[in-house]
Amino acid sequence: MGQGRPAGRLGAVLRSVTATRYVLPLREGGSLPGICEADDLGTYVVKFHGAGQGRRVLVAEVLAARLAAALDLEVPELVVAHVDPVIGRGEPDEEVQDLLLRSPGANLGTDFLPGALSFDPAIDPFDTGWATRVLWFDAFVLNVDRSWRNPNALFWGGRPWLIDHGASLYFHHDWPRAAASTTRPLRHAEEHLLLRAADDVTTVDAACAAALTPDLLRAALADVPTEWLVDEPGFTDVAELRVAYLSWFTARLGNGRPWLADLAAVQAGARTTPLTAAPREAGRG
Ligand SMILES: Nc1ncnc2c1ncn2[C@@H]1O[C@H](COP(=O)(O)OP(=O)(O)O)[C@@H](O)[C@H]1O
Ligand SMILES: [Mg+2]
Repeated sequence: MGQGRPAGRLGAVLRSVTATRYVLPLREGGSLPGICEADDLGTYVVKFHGAGQGRRVLVAEVLAARLAAALDLEVPELVVAHVDPVIGRGEPDEEVQDLLLRSPGANLGTDFLPGALSFDPAIDPFDTGWATRVLWFDAFVLNVDRSWRNPNALFWGGRPWLIDHGASLYFHHDWPRAAASTTRPLRHAEEHLLLRAADDVTTVDAACAAALTPDLLRAALADVPTEWLVDEPGFTDVAELRVAYLSWFTARLGNGRPWLADLAAVQAGARTTPLTAAPREAGRG
């Protein structure tokens, strides 16, 4: 792992490292992230820009991690991991070789937390305020990828860490219709990992919204490597694209936040419904 520094310091530019060795593919998700060693002697989970959903997933990871950190939610440090596809030449798996060949240059590295377990709110200790802010955050960034089936949270060092925000901010796969999503509720909220563990989400709303200042949002956008933003269809340049993200965040924060009331209603419904299906079936891992 890297130096264990907290992620998401305000305005801090992502550190750059160069991948020196491809260690192992991670086959849990569809995007084939790989564990890589880097020239800073750190070990990273690397997500490649040449994977199926492309660069936008990496953009979502950086933006969401920055916002999470501003809400005092711990996320492993992110780095820009430079890849020379030659590091895959000893890799027997052709799928991995192809992915590396499609992914020269800047990719996304996440500090590998060795020995981390999949976070389980039924077993692992956590703070209710944390759970409530996570729920608010996932609704804000439209992250449908944190369910009891697929927690995308790790337990490490005695506390929970959030990972895998590539599916959030999905409006950027369809920019012409992005504005319509600014009021949209979180889909599948009833399956959210922390729906029942959290307090009423409206209790953290004012503090969470206040933490996402215009300066914070601009700093998060400035942190996204330009390589992942260039040549986006419909935009004349990277600056215009950054402004479009900023406008989306600003609109999501404004307009009375109807998505919050929707989420609060799902929570209230869950409180009056006993747990029937066994959410434990996914188990750890
Ligand atoms: N920083 C990390 N430290 C330790 N394990 C990790 C880390 N990031 C991811 N993993 C492991 O790799 C798996 C896949 O990573 P994830 O970011 O969830 O990608 P995917 O998009 O493939 O779901 C996770 O479920 C987790 O088990
Ligand atoms: Mg995942």
